[in-house]
Amino acid sequence: MSKDKYSSFTELNKQAELGGGLGKIEKQHQNGKMTARERINVLLDKDTFVELDKLMINHCTNFGMEKNRIAGDAMVSGYGKINGKLTFVYAYDFTAYGGSLGATTAKKIVKVQKLALKNGAPIIALNDSGGARIQEGIESLDGYAEIFHQNIMASGVIPQISAILGPCAGGACYSPALTDFIFMVKEHSHMFITGPDVVKAVTHEEIDKEKLGGSHTHSTQSGVTHFVCDTEEELLMSIRELLSFLPSNNMEDASARHTTDDNRREDEELQHIVPEDPDQPYDIRNIIEAVADERYFFEIMPDFARNIVIGFAHLGGRSVGIVANQPNYLAGVLDINASDKAARFIRFCDCFNIPIITFEDVPGFLPGYTQESNGIIRHGAKIVYAYAEATVPKITVITRKAYGGAYIVMNSKLTGADVNFAYPTAEIAVMGAEGAINILYRNADEDTKLKELEAYREKFATPYQAAELGSIDEIIQPKQTRIRLIQALEMTQNKVQTNPHKKHGNIPL
Ligand code: HXC
Repeated sequence: MSKDKYSSFTELNKQAELGGGLGKIEKQHQNGKMTARERINVLLDKDTFVELDKLMINHCTNFGMEKNRIAGDAMVSGYGKINGKLTFVYAYDFTAYGGSLGATTAKKIVKVQKLALKNGAPIIALNDSGGARIQEGIESLDGYAEIFHQNIMASGVIPQISAILGPCAGGACYSPALTDFIFMVKEHSHMFITGPDVVKAVTHEEIDKEKLGGSHTHSTQSGVTHFVCDTEEELLMSIRELLSFLPSNNMEDASARHTTDDNRREDEELQHIVPEDPDQPYDIRNIIEAVADERYFFEIMPDFARNIVIGFAHLGGRSVGIVANQPNYLAGVLDINASDKAARFIRFCDCFNIPIITFEDVPGFLPGYTQESNGIIRHGAKIVYAYAEATVPKITVITRKAYGGAYIVMNSKLTGADVNFAYPTAEIAVMGAEGAINILYRNADEDTKLKELEAYREKFATPYQAAELGSIDEIIQPKQTRIRLIQALEMTQNKVQTNPHKKHGNIPL
């Protein structure tokens, strides 16, 4: 090749790396946002990014598009490594056509989606986009359709993670929604099906974009996002951390890592976390942290349905998913949002061979018209469906209340749990003492009711009836929780269980 050919290639490359140009990059920075390439460089291990399709352009000629061809077409895509492991990534480039998606942008995305699936590696989408490229009409809609199809084909095969780092409007929301985890950054991320102007035109409702689709709304109300971070850097680091708990694909075992924490560590603190008064709240995370390797718990959706806690930890070096009722919030009751949150997480863990540890302290399902009319029956059914269908090791620790239907659905023995422990403080019964006596002794005098209340508490507000029936395998001292869980994980390490062959089940969605 002549020197000229080399230099024009270098020039072309340089030009492509500027996306929409220096002015647009400047504007992106002024808006407090990184460019697509900057984001990828922070996300991946240093110098590991290999870019694909850097010189692809669109062929649209509508609205003068032919006069403004931008190499890369608003998309930076390729692969690299995170914590040394192969990872695919694509990042919308807002400096080019506002990161809007046209036919070429979609082709680039679908290419990395297919590569990620074929090669069994996680894929991360960094979204910052004006949505469907208006000039390309139906071609951009078809592009989304193909992306969604690939999202669905990859679901349960490779981890898919979405970061929302700017606008994400219209149908563009559905690719993130189809992935496993969504991250948003405060103030800069917005996700909505229709923006404030359309809302006003259709419903006459006046609402700003932050309230409509900002990170607060999606982390506390809608449950659309799993993580909210203060800055883009923090968000990108959190994605790296999340991946450290996950295998690369559904054929690999849960990730394992070296721990210096003693597998036989006992913790006296655990003897005192559950209060003697059954009505007194406590923070279940104190138990999770006391048990986990290095006392570290990576919580997911901390601000949504706070009556249930989900997240990852390592135990004896192995990655585990944790589901725990939270007595500190609404007494840990199960409601619609808690059911949805837990069920989806249980299914994620099962897809990716991650054992599930359940900490249970639950007074029951939340009663009342609001819950019933919104479908607590079909939502609550998701938890038991997800647990029973899961074939990964499943271990439960009942710390205190395990009443009624809630006892059954929280990974009870006969729904298919592998190992069930209870603390001596556990109360495993059809319902709480007051409710039971008010039904059984409705017309009795107060003295009789008090006497029977005491008798009920003694007989049922304990783990002993369940232990006598084998519904609890062992009553354990709280300080031994870590040891027992690690032993149970070792015992179930080679667990083989297959469900009846079927196309797929029909979870009550
Ligand atoms: C083409 C677009 C675009 C789009 C933005 N741009 N969105 N070009 N198609 N969808 C261009 C702008 O013309 C502008 O070009 C540049 O990107 C930056 O946009 P600005 O408006 O200057 O930036 P900002 O003020 O930050 O506002 C960003 C924005 C706004 C909030 C995203 O641009 C916006 O509301 N865009 C439209 C969003 C939308 O309704 N999308 C369609 C959703 S429907 P210049 O040349 O001036 O730099 C949809 C259907 C998908 O997506 C269905 C799939 C199933």
